[in-house]
Amino acid sequence: MTHLVKTAQNIAMAILEEAGSCARRLVKSLAYVPLLLASAAATADDPPVTAQIVDLANKLNGVHPGFRAFHAKGVVVEGSFKASPEAAQLSHAKLFNGRTIPVTVRFSDGSGMPNVADGSPAANPHGMAIKYHLPGGADTDMVTNSFKFFPAGTGEDFRDLLAAIVASPPDAPKPTKLEQFFASHPNAPKAFGTAATPDSYADEEYHGINAFIFVSKTGQRQAVRYLLVPEKLVHLTPEEAAKQSSDFLSDELTKRIARKPVVFHLKAQLAEPGEQTKDGSQPWPDDRKVVELGVLTLNKAVPNSLEAETKLLFMPTSLTDGIELSDDPLPVVRTGAYGVSFARRSQAGSASSGPDNMNGHTSNAPRQASTVSP
Ligand code: HEM
Repeated sequence: MTHLVKTAQNIAMAILEEAGSCARRLVKSLAYVPLLLASAAATADDPPVTAQIVDLANKLNGVHPGFRAFHAKGVVVEGSFKASPEAAQLSHAKLFNGRTIPVTVRFSDGSGMPNVADGSPAANPHGMAIKYHLPGGADTDMVTNSFKFFPAGTGEDFRDLLAAIVASPPDAPKPTKLEQFFASHPNAPKAFGTAATPDSYADEEYHGINAFIFVSKTGQRQAVRYLLVPEKLVHLTPEEAAKQSSDFLSDELTKRIARKPVVFHLKAQLAEPGEQTKDGSQPWPDDRKVVELGVLTLNKAVPNSLEAETKLLFMPTSLTDGIELSDDPLPVVRTGAYGVSFARRSQAGSASSGPDNMNGHTSNAPRQASTVSP
């Protein structure tokens, strides 16, 4: 066994240790361990960055045992996906073989506060995480949000952004750490400007942001970024958003699905040869070709959504043959951070220990409302 794999296993075991016995049972399932190992291997040189990010999320939003460090509030629905013939030409993934594939989808507010108002600016960006239940029993995930591009291109940059926000309370001396971060990362403030409150989770466009590689039957490779396009896109003004009830997005979606299915078109923006694929904070030009990969039809609200979401773990690196990682470093960092968050939120009924408790933050009161919610 190589040194790297050993290190990866140690890190995965550290995550399992942190998880406690309840989560250990879940995380040890065959589906999760290889992905945790993969993410741990990739961060072996700087293992703390994923945990540092989750710790900073907890500093910004407070520690809320049992909830996700980001996207804490959400709603789970079910439905199916049917691929277009164009998708099968681009990738030989089972996902695109044209059969009807069952899906589980969680829509969410971006904040790590489980009691955030759906219309609050802190609830941006909204998330749409999709688990496709493939023929044969395996799953593959897509984890998307309503930012058009991400404020940071690497895990370290994202950690530094969170740290800059923590270090920039209203009375901080100018230029604040956040102003300094924005000055050196001009796409970060622009990224925040790309998200707004929709009038419904169903009337929002969601972006995959990170680049993945489609591999065709003949071995051709094409870099793509996902898009989930609604039947109509409707955003509220900040004034309208502020007037909505706290749970209006989840309430509306449940009612809407009871009346008629919600439809999204899964599309892929195609990179041109030589296009950069390693930086999710840099959008590709708007004129890049976009192809329809298939239709997602959501027709069932899960009755006990809170219970269902507790057990769900969506991971950007949970791929299937025919879809591969690109040189974009974020999916691996993300899966690592999602694993840390999952391990902590799976600790049954206890306020978290160790780094979570720094500053004694175990109440529902955030120290400072976060405007960063990946
Ligand atoms: C370095 C970058 C990022 C980090 C560290 C990060 C971290 C996290 C963490 C810790 C969670 C909670 C996971 C859990 O407990 O299950 C989460 C959830 C989520 N993130 Fe990210 N994230 C990043 C970037 C992104 C990007 C680029 C997107 C969209 C393209 C995104 C979309 C989401 C969504 C939709 C969820 C909720 C998933 C669910 O419903 O379970 N994140 N993120």
